[in-house]
Amino acid sequence: MCGIIGYVGNKEASPILHESLRKLEYRGYDSYGFATIDKNKVWIRKGKGKISDAGFEKIPGTIGIAHTRWATHGNVSKANSHPHLDCQKKLAIIHNGIIENFDKLKKGLVRRGHKLRSQTDSEIIAHLLEENMDAGLENALKRVMGIIEGRSAILVVKDDFDGIVAARKGSPIIVGVGDNEYFIASDIPAFLKKTNNVMYIDDGEMVVIENGKTPRFVNIETGKSISKRLIKIDWDTTQAEKGDYAHFMIKEIMEQKETILRAINQDDKEIQKVAKAINNAFGVFLTGCGTAGNVCHTGEYIFSKIAKKHVNYAVSSEFPSYDDFIAKKTLVLTVSQSGETADLLEAVTDAKKKGAKVISLVNVKGSTLDRVSDSTFLINAGPEKAVASTKATTAQLAIMYLLAYASAGKLNEGKRMLLDVASKTNDMLNPRYDERIRKIAEKIYKKKNIYIIGRSTNYPMALESAIKIMEVSYIHAHGFAAGELKHGPIALIDKGAPVIVLCGDESDKDSISNAMEVKARGGLIIGVGPKKYDVFDHWIKTPDVGVGSPMVNIIPVQLLAYHLGVLRGCNIDMPRNLAKSVTVK
Ligand code: G6P
Repeated sequence: MCGIIGYVGNKEASPILHESLRKLEYRGYDSYGFATIDKNKVWIRKGKGKISDAGFEKIPGTIGIAHTRWATHGNVSKANSHPHLDCQKKLAIIHNGIIENFDKLKKGLVRRGHKLRSQTDSEIIAHLLEENMDAGLENALKRVMGIIEGRSAILVVKDDFDGIVAARKGSPIIVGVGDNEYFIASDIPAFLKKTNNVMYIDDGEMVVIENGKTPRFVNIETGKSISKRLIKIDWDTTQAEKGDYAHFMIKEIMEQKETILRAINQDDKEIQKVAKAINNAFGVFLTGCGTAGNVCHTGEYIFSKIAKKHVNYAVSSEFPSYDDFIAKKTLVLTVSQSGETADLLEAVTDAKKKGAKVISLVNVKGSTLDRVSDSTFLINAGPEKAVASTKATTAQLAIMYLLAYASAGKLNEGKRMLLDVASKTNDMLNPRYDERIRKIAEKIYKKKNIYIIGRSTNYPMALESAIKIMEVSYIHAHGFAAGELKHGPIALIDKGAPVIVLCGDESDKDSISNAMEVKARGGLIIGVGPKKYDVFDHWIKTPDVGVGSPMVNIIPVQLLAYHLGVLRGCNIDMPRNLAKSVTVK
């Protein structure tokens, strides 16, 4: 979380940083701030709230750093926004991550007479640098990286240095190489309009970017120089724009007309190879967070149904409690849109330490997960900007199916099924369909609670439906295994309580019985599936795609969540308190 960007060049830094920061806003939007260097002085501007709501205020200098915050330590305030200064205001830092030993370090700094101006953990970096400045800026940062614990990416500017020094331990930063100018950011889209040539910084590395010189990469521990390759990113910048759509979320939902098809377009040999590794592994674990976690959960069912294979699923934050099972021959299959989620990266580090093989389904090429995995399948969904994940979900599911079918020795059958899903999704996502769902949203958007039930693969999709509705509309939503309803949740049902029933496979009969039980208690039944049952008060038709039903069922719920959010006047693409890429534990 937190978006960071730095610029070193000959142009005015502040307008460039302002534009870049707006592109990073999906990473955090509690507050923002800039620091530039000009005439041997550090210039600072900060504000509370979103950078996109703030007017542009120029500060001088051709070197600068900027930050958009997702609060961890300290409330949302101007004082807690980055950059942070040392006591003498000679240097400024921006930080993405969490300093786990911050309390102890802060007490030491206060004891030694430092005046801290914020409640953040990040500010202590500026003061620790100040204390170590006898060694020079570069070495001071090296020392500080050895002192602080946890995952961090740090950018530093100093009054007497014509550039930026940055370090990475856990959280991502990437250098963008332009024409006599350099960018350094937490995400490539921050500078993609200016350049698509990048250099990756790996964990435990630092970079010194001095104006007019080639960036110098160094290993923090050994101090040895590292040579880097210049990599060309083939992303299309227009894909990351909203176009005619009101929000990124609706644009990305509609893009599923093509993204499912793009996801299936994988190298067959690689799929077969990984399927073989899955079959030969001594235990297979699926792991991911949030929506990606729900995809993994669905994967557990998919492998069981299609490949008759037991695989284990754990959300990444719980993975450490299972790691006693991980051994050399274990295979860990991870799923992530960003490839930067901290809990997942920790799980991967853990698994790799134990000798397990890591295979990943990732959207962002060049992300940390992509680079640390033994093998990666890029889901090819294109940039996903809305915080609520939509098109990445179905693309991840598509590859999960491919792997399960390949593991069963039926790759071609799997492809045929997925082509059918892709083509029927294309037909389904038309304006009339969207309007029909909007009308249903109109009937329920004032409700306080929405429940979603499903069985089999549609159970994890019920959980995913709940995430979608909650994050976009702030309506409390809860997903249940349909059969569990009678063991407690049915107590919540009263007159008019909306219950979405996900149908579409052999378990429909039982789910419909559960829907009847709800209806008998006054619930309002919204059925999603290919077949209309009498118990439905409203029916959202989805195509009949057999075992692929979770892919087509989640799409109308994404649309419903979107319309509920719009009707309730919510901030669709940047819901409160959330961030797209969660790089803290
Ligand atoms: C955040 C996002 C979710 C996403 C989750 C995992 O919570 O808001 O949409 O599902 O992180 O992210 P990943 O990038 O690993 O898929």
